[in-house]
Amino acid sequence: MNNNCIVLNNKKIDISKSNPNTIVLDWIRLDRELKGTKEGCAEGDCGACSVLISPVSGGKFKPANSCLLKLGQVSGSEIVTVEGLGNQKNPSSVQKILANLGASQCGFCTPGFVIAITGLLCENNKPTEDEIHDALAGNLCRCTGYRPIMDSVKNIKFKHNFRECKKWDNTDKFQGKQAVFYYPKTLQEAYNISLSHENVKYLSGGTDLNLQSQDTKKKLNYILLNRIPELLRIDEGNNEIQIGSSVTLEETLPLFEKYFSPFAEILRRFGSSQIRSQATIAGNLCTASPIGDAAPSLMALGSSIEIFSNNQKKYLAIEDLFSDYRKTVLNPNDIVTSINIPIPPNDKKFYAWKVSKRYDQDISTVSMAALIGMGENNIIQSCRICFGGLSATTFRSKEIENSFIGIKPDQDHTKILEITEKSIKPLSDLRGSADYRINLALGLIKRLLFKLLNNDIAIEVMKVKIDE
Ligand SMILES: Cc1cc2nc3c(=O)[nH]c(=O)nc-3n(C[C@H](O)[C@H](O)[C@H](O)COP(=O)(O)OP(=O)(O)OC[C@H]3O[C@@H](n4cnc5c(N)ncnc54)[C@H](O)[C@@H]3O)c2cc1C
Ligand code: FES
Ligand code: FES
Repeated sequence: MNNNCIVLNNKKIDISKSNPNTIVLDWIRLDRELKGTKEGCAEGDCGACSVLISPVSGGKFKPANSCLLKLGQVSGSEIVTVEGLGNQKNPSSVQKILANLGASQCGFCTPGFVIAITGLLCENNKPTEDEIHDALAGNLCRCTGYRPIMDSVKNIKFKHNFRECKKWDNTDKFQGKQAVFYYPKTLQEAYNISLSHENVKYLSGGTDLNLQSQDTKKKLNYILLNRIPELLRIDEGNNEIQIGSSVTLEETLPLFEKYFSPFAEILRRFGSSQIRSQATIAGNLCTASPIGDAAPSLMALGSSIEIFSNNQKKYLAIEDLFSDYRKTVLNPNDIVTSINIPIPPNDKKFYAWKVSKRYDQDISTVSMAALIGMGENNIIQSCRICFGGLSATTFRSKEIENSFIGIKPDQDHTKILEITEKSIKPLSDLRGSADYRINLALGLIKRLLFKLLNNDIAIEVMKVKIDE
């Protein structure tokens, strides 16, 4: 077995004597004494801790929140911090323009912005205003105001010299006193490790799991799934898309834009680019969060998951996955291996909306997705409607669906609205009262009918324009 190593700012560092359970941000600041990367919120919301990181399987550098990553996840990766981009004597073009255009005051957020902007420009040399907003949605600045930051990105002359990283690590685990991170290369290997150890957790992006409190009195055993090649595949068939469970949200976006654009619009608002570069759909489904963004759309589209269990593969419709608040029907050792999404035929229309308090970087209060089949004479022939944020789990409402069947969108909708109001019983919590949530659900149903009536395209972006 080789030693566990990281390439940090182009220098290979042996980390095998470090604690793999250490947060990468702490390792960078305290162990490597690189203080440019800052700690703000420590939970993925502010972007001050952003670094560029290459996937262990190889590929391009992407911005990620180092406060959400454990050292055991990044052994075998390459990481670039703000010090690796430039310094006072020799600043990078991004650092130079931010300083010249007054885009930094106290400077606390600036290293995070430098990383996020560099990550964006490496992908896309001429980003549009919306693309800049998307890329910087995960970076907060408390004092400068965003105008000079936007101006800097628009005016920069940027040429990057980042190579694409190759897979170079072949270690099978990272052993520490408090935790062990296992790196299986096959599903059976992962499954066997999970059967033969206690206190085991499968880990994909870690954007949910790394924020959960863990019983540290017992040794933690993490099984990383992102080094199993078959889980990193995307298969684009004629009728169905299969997405390997370790494919990140960022990687799925182009495909979703092509086939399920309203879903892509929701995923573009999923966390931030730093979150999406790590998070997976499988992880999102396995959290069974009622406000998870993936489940309503996947359920409405009639998607299923493939599960590896004891050397066998089985399939489960996503509408049968959730058993209770944050609980699934999966056995603890089951591995979700892919998400299988049917491509809707041309005569079906797909709609999806997320309502949240902020447009960007916010989890939803209520969300709804619908797949509607229109028959002759503009009569609704089939209907799948799914809601998130209205009960303990994301659910499909047969009662509401039945009320749509056989009607025309221009008919009186009173009955549909009455049935919707009667059939949902949301909880009140800090995100919204039950009454507020019912009103949101009714509003979304009305919007759906309005869209069907106008034969409208399904993509819709609701943004508050501040300047106009
Ligand atoms: C700042 C921030 C913003 C966020 N914004 C959003 C948002 O807008 N919308 C939203 O829905 N969520 C959001 N989240 C929550 C989180 O990012 C998502 O739920 C994400 O999809 C989790 O994926 P992951 O790969 O990181 O999962 P992980 O954290 O790795 O795992 C989550 C759970 O799933 C299990 N698991 C993971 N993969 C598998 C598998 N293949 N088989 C079996 N079990 C598995 C793990 O054991 C764990 O229990 C946000 C989180 C943060 C920190
Ligand atoms: S410290 Fe705020 S995102 Fe990491
Ligand atoms: S310059 Fe102070 S927080 Fe951004």
